[in-house]
Amino acid sequence: MNPAIKCAVDYARTQGLKPYLVYDGLRGLIDDKIKEASGDDVSGILHRGGTILRSSRSKRFFDIQYREQAYNNLKSRGIGKLIVIGGDGSFGALHQFYSDFGLPFAGIPATIDNDIPGTDYCLGVDTALNVIRHSVDSIRDTATSFSRAFVIEVMGRHCGYLAMVSSLACGAEICLVPEIEYDLDSIQERIRKEKEDGSRTYLIAIVAEGVKMGDYLTRWIGDSLKMDARLTVLGHVQRGGSPTVRDRIMAYHFAVGAVNALQAGETSRIMTYKDGLYGSTSIQEVSDGKVSAREELFNLCRPLCC
Ligand code: F6P
Repeated sequence: MNPAIKCAVDYARTQGLKPYLVYDGLRGLIDDKIKEASGDDVSGILHRGGTILRSSRSKRFFDIQYREQAYNNLKSRGIGKLIVIGGDGSFGALHQFYSDFGLPFAGIPATIDNDIPGTDYCLGVDTALNVIRHSVDSIRDTATSFSRAFVIEVMGRHCGYLAMVSSLACGAEICLVPEIEYDLDSIQERIRKEKEDGSRTYLIAIVAEGVKMGDYLTRWIGDSLKMDARLTVLGHVQRGGSPTVRDRIMAYHFAVGAVNALQAGETSRIMTYKDGLYGSTSIQEVSDGKVSAREELFNLCRPLCC
């Protein structure tokens, strides 16, 4: 998120605009935590994880009275357009705000779940994947040295993207995700054969948190595959860390796209990266659409589910 903030501010200034920063997300809009952005505010932040602006969920924003307060805070400074970095919740809030007061906004998709309709990529995903890759590579050292099985639970509330990509990148033997049907009997048979012919002495299984199978699978591996099994839940380490090169560059494209969209008079576009092209889509597609099926990825992962 920080590269996106920096680029939006720097680029807006080169366009002769006067950018402001809103701290603490929706809560900050209501409580007037808004300041004009200087170059200093955004210098030296490219490499930092999280967001220098901080973030928050705000129940008050559902209430028109507080949205009006937020609008007045913006109006008093002459702020006429907003860029929001986040997921469907943040976009939905800004869409409501646009319906209320006609204040245009542009959205930059950012969620490690990579599950925003209309775009193949959301900021943070590559950084999270690299955290997972590093962790699984480290866990593999114990797995191989002690002939153990490890079940590693990665984030992804409804979407198995992180689990699928990291399973392939880290060479997992098992991958369980909400999108693909799995078959424990055939997994058992596959691993049993490998154990029998001596090619399987340790095991890495990656599961998406959304399937809620971490505990069960760990016990199942002990009982059915007769392997010493441990569960590692990676948790919030996946949401931190210095942004990777890919994330930094994607942030630049999305931020420039967002400023340009607003300059061109767009009122509610969400930046996208789709089929290798940068572009934007309507807020309707994001709120009503479905995450595009990733058939090629599913096909690569299917052998790990059975
Ligand atoms: O939606 C992104 C995500 O990282 C999910 O993968 C995860 O379930 C959730 O956020 C964690 O949210 P919180 O930090 O509120 O526990």
